[in-house]
Amino acid sequence: MNAQKPKICVVGSAMTDQITRAPRLPVAGETLMATSYTLGFGGKGSNQAVMAARLGADVSMVAKLGRDLFGQNTLENYVSHGINTEFVFWDEQLPSGVAPIWVDETTGQNQILVVPGANAALTPAEVRRAASQIAQSAVLVCQNEIPMACNREALSIARAKGVLTIFNPAPAVPTPADIWALADIATPNEVEAALLTGVSTQDDEGALQAARVLCERGAKTVLLTLGARGALVVEESGHHWIAAKPVQAVDTTGAGDAFMGSLAFFLATGQSLREAATRACRVASLSVSKTGTQTSFPTAAEVAAAEVAATEVATTEN
Ligand code: RIB
Repeated sequence: MNAQKPKICVVGSAMTDQITRAPRLPVAGETLMATSYTLGFGGKGSNQAVMAARLGADVSMVAKLGRDLFGQNTLENYVSHGINTEFVFWDEQLPSGVAPIWVDETTGQNQILVVPGANAALTPAEVRRAASQIAQSAVLVCQNEIPMACNREALSIARAKGVLTIFNPAPAVPTPADIWALADIATPNEVEAALLTGVSTQDDEGALQAARVLCERGAKTVLLTLGARGALVVEESGHHWIAAKPVQAVDTTGAGDAFMGSLAFFLATGQSLREAATRACRVASLSVSKTGTQTSFPTAAEVAAAEVAATEVATTEN
């Protein structure tokens, strides 16, 4: 533990990403020649933890792995990033989670299936064992690739101790009202917000409406990420838009997680939500310009360079 570093706890998933890149995605019934196949570290929870750690956070991960090569490699990846693994649990029967991913090389967009394996066996009792880690953190982050009861446990512990909670409802699944009410900041992307609310988020008006629906369900603040369109923050007092720098997307896989992990880091350092979200958009933009999931996440030095460039552009424009 490092007293100078902002402390973040991530309760969430670990996957091994099985990434196939192809000039386009096949249609049903079609066989298509692909360009490449790679294995990499993934899982929304792990991705967010790694991004926060790369920026300099003191991160604790609460997750469950299978007793197999993927699980062992995942543990070593956490250790290599300085992530506290005291609350990484093992399932003796189930395999580690995997995620087959297809990336369309022309657009950089992806399609992901998640096979949860051991992630689905994480229990609220195991999350409770990490209560003191959650309580000592500045920020708790949860997503939807572990059982909802685990999110409830983690969010409840954090709320009781005054820890800022970020609930990333990804993937979009039916979400009980008490979970929304435990979210200081709920962070769907545009696809998840549309699935969760039934409101199209394709235009700004729809995005605003969908975010307001999620606020009405109980989230204090909704931060809706909109890919190349940036992000939208909606809270009781009003809303504001955050622009994203236009970039050529090579691979969008994990960009949302780069955003969440860096958002948690910037908030944990005491920045305002507007500032933190603006900077997290820059981190996500950096990640879409490289291939892979965690392999595309920028280093702290790359983020710092992008910040300087953004400041210079802003100064020139003023
Ligand atoms: O958000 C991207 C992630 O979703 C991938 O790493 C994959 O594992 C799935 O969890």
